[in-house]
Amino acid sequence: MSLRTRPSALPVPATDWRSRIPISRVPQPREDRMTATWRLARPARIAGALALSQTQNSGGWFVAGASGDVGRTESVARTIAGREVVFWRNASGELVAGPGACPHLGALMDRCPVMEGTMYCRWHGLAFSERGDTTWSPYAALDDGVLLWVRLPTAGEEPTAAPSLPERPPLTASVAAVISEPGLCEPQDVIANRLDPWHGSWFHPYAFSHLVVDDAASDESKLVVDVTFRLSRTWGVPVRAEFTCPDTRTITMQITEGEGAGSVVETHATPLGVDAEGRPLTMITEATIAYSDRPGFRVARWMSPLLKPGIKRTAKRLWVDDLDYAERRYALRRRGEFPG
Ligand code: FES
Ligand SMILES: [Fe+2]
Repeated sequence: MSLRTRPSALPVPATDWRSRIPISRVPQPREDRMTATWRLARPARIAGALALSQTQNSGGWFVAGASGDVGRTESVARTIAGREVVFWRNASGELVAGPGACPHLGALMDRCPVMEGTMYCRWHGLAFSERGDTTWSPYAALDDGVLLWVRLPTAGEEPTAAPSLPERPPLTASVAAVISEPGLCEPQDVIANRLDPWHGSWFHPYAFSHLVVDDAASDESKLVVDVTFRLSRTWGVPVRAEFTCPDTRTITMQITEGEGAGSVVETHATPLGVDAEGRPLTMITEATIAYSDRPGFRVARWMSPLLKPGIKRTAKRLWVDDLDYAERRYALRRRGEFPG
């Protein structure tokens, strides 16, 4: 197979049953029959795309978790970019965020009771409203329907009114699932991992095969990839996908052709702070927003509580490997041994 040619299994022939069933017989090749991708995955090319992604303005916005992480009856405290931040919901259910330490005696305001939009500090009952006062000022916060965001004062970032949300399919017609995993690396290591799609078939053979980057359609700001999502060693779902970075801490993969066109996987890297040994901790929050205009997908949406664990399981397995990659990249950079 030529490196520049799309795999012969693409596109799916439009016979009746095949147009209804997106699965193709695409036997998984053995390693010694697979095309090596190391010549294509040039360190300078990945570094160029990463550098371009890092010139954007994230506006001080950080992903803080999944929409479902903060309920109406209790606060949640998280450390983001070295700051303790408390989250709760006001009387209308909108997200509220602010400094996580109580101005009275410094309690961390985690799991504090919330009643009708007012949060009460667990230590002595000091009440907090979304408006704040002279001792406590809220941060801008947003629940976008899938993820929670907070805007923090951030060096080098001009504050913006809202985060640059990636293009998403209609949420009412999609199944969204979010996973989070912490890693010992910096956000740029997470983005760099995704800016190297060439590792897909080799490093994740259980999930991908026949991965080809379409160089003619790609540039430093966009990578276009033809890939088969593995269902088994024999069967797979061929799709075309695009990787783009809407801000410095986010990379998205949107399926543009094939089953689930319009679906998006958003990978957000949130710096948390440093561990006891001074190593940076980064939370990877990955939102998979699966969409399909097939009639069968409506039935699947009804079953979304059953589907979500499956989507999460696959995303977690991929991230165990990709975290290894990102952490290794960081360790090499720290030692001054990163190639390229
Ligand atoms: S520490 Fe919060 S009310 Fe005293
Ligand atoms: Fe990967």
